[in-house]
Amino acid sequence: MVVGFVDRATRGVLAAALVWMVAATLTGCSPTGAGGTDPSPVTAELALVDPDIVVGLTSAVEENLEPGRFTYLTFPVVPGADGWTDAMRDALAPQVERFGELAAGTDEPPLPELQVAWDLVGASPEAIGARLVTSVLGEDDTFEGKVETSWWDPATGTARSPLDLIDRSAEVEFFSRLRAAAEADPRVIPERYTNQISGEWEAFRSVAFTTDGELWIEFARDNIADTGEPVGLAVDPAGLLTPFGEAAQRAALDPSDPDLEPVPEPTPEPTPTPTTDPGGGTGGVDCAVAKCAALTFDDGPVSGTNDLLDVLAARGAPATFFVVGSNVENHPEIMRRMVAEGHAVGNHTKDHPQLTRLDAGAIRRELTETDDAIEVATGQRPTILRPPYGAYNETVSRVAGELGMSLVLWNVDPEDWKDRDSAVVARRVLAQTRNGSIVLSHDIHPSTREAYAAIVDGLLAEGFTLVTVPQLFGGQLQPGRVYSAR
Ligand code: NI
Repeated sequence: MVVGFVDRATRGVLAAALVWMVAATLTGCSPTGAGGTDPSPVTAELALVDPDIVVGLTSAVEENLEPGRFTYLTFPVVPGADGWTDAMRDALAPQVERFGELAAGTDEPPLPELQVAWDLVGASPEAIGARLVTSVLGEDDTFEGKVETSWWDPATGTARSPLDLIDRSAEVEFFSRLRAAAEADPRVIPERYTNQISGEWEAFRSVAFTTDGELWIEFARDNIADTGEPVGLAVDPAGLLTPFGEAAQRAALDPSDPDLEPVPEPTPEPTPTPTTDPGGGTGGVDCAVAKCAALTFDDGPVSGTNDLLDVLAARGAPATFFVVGSNVENHPEIMRRMVAEGHAVGNHTKDHPQLTRLDAGAIRRELTETDDAIEVATGQRPTILRPPYGAYNETVSRVAGELGMSLVLWNVDPEDWKDRDSAVVARRVLAQTRNGSIVLSHDIHPSTREAYAAIVDGLLAEGFTLVTVPQLFGGQLQPGRVYSAR
């Protein structure tokens, strides 16, 4: 059983809200007009930075595929700020460990799941900031969400806590302005706000800026409101910021490339070999006759995917890449290289959720947004889907089918996410692969990428013809059906 997750439904909210409205009116801070009209809409907006501004930016992925302990964490990686990525990973480690302890032993699907996604909230040579959103889904649809920011100070090469942006000597003024912002926000439930703050500096885990340059103090879902998502309060920053806070504010409002380390010129894109069959048809191979195997790689692309593409290109071995939509947007050039070199591309969702937890509409969004990103990058729409964690049900199959996609699982799993040892990974793949196998691996891990020279050489020596997944089935995959081997 999983304990400690916040229940989605919280009672007594309406009563508390009514008390709040009365109090707000008495103190002259009512958000409502004189005639008691609807509360004024909240217009402040978090300033987000387009990751494209940061040359060479990529995403680090930490994944656990052990049933009952599913985690999928992503962190930004900025060239020259490796310590920052490590700091973010370290900061979240206790939370991940706690999740593992709570979730261990759960075996009834849908299984508990922890996800971390990021946004950039500042970028410049003097400050870089990320906002990390953690979602924990427990049994029975229980949900816990957290939001925090991490800032990096390139001048000293150190990670900065969100509190380093605010001048401690202005504490009283800060709390007073934040309280006023809370009182003016019709979404805020006063009891919860009071419990959450209780005058404690450490209560603030997420500090960034609005598009107007105000401080944006953000609270996790359900912490101060019932909106089902994090709530940010905008605070006038005049006189409240430290010098680093001012640098962070400039990095949010007028972002630029931090340029901390020269980024090598991207390898020129190969001239596409004219092919009428970019991994999609039979490729002239008949796997009813030949001894075939399909190598598949999940979760990328990341910048290191290029190393794997080099290994495959040197051996003329086609493979299949099941890509995550958010990574596709960061690496369109790698996507084009995959297609140009004859690999097949499949959908691995936009944000890597366990699809069996989602309703049909949410599944459709996850799949369609990824198809769109792949099409923008490569000009092709995928016809194959690998559901994260291999989790699917009738709804997943139906929606995939409606979008023209087959579900592709695997029958060879070297557990490369667990054992980051290229020799172990190579040995397992070579021992388990049979005629018609689909091999699962993850190109996000350097140890996996390093394993594949030996794997490809070994399989070719054993007489295998390496093919894409569509080629393995002679281009005859049926939308909505599930395949794990030929
Ligand atoms: Ni995955």
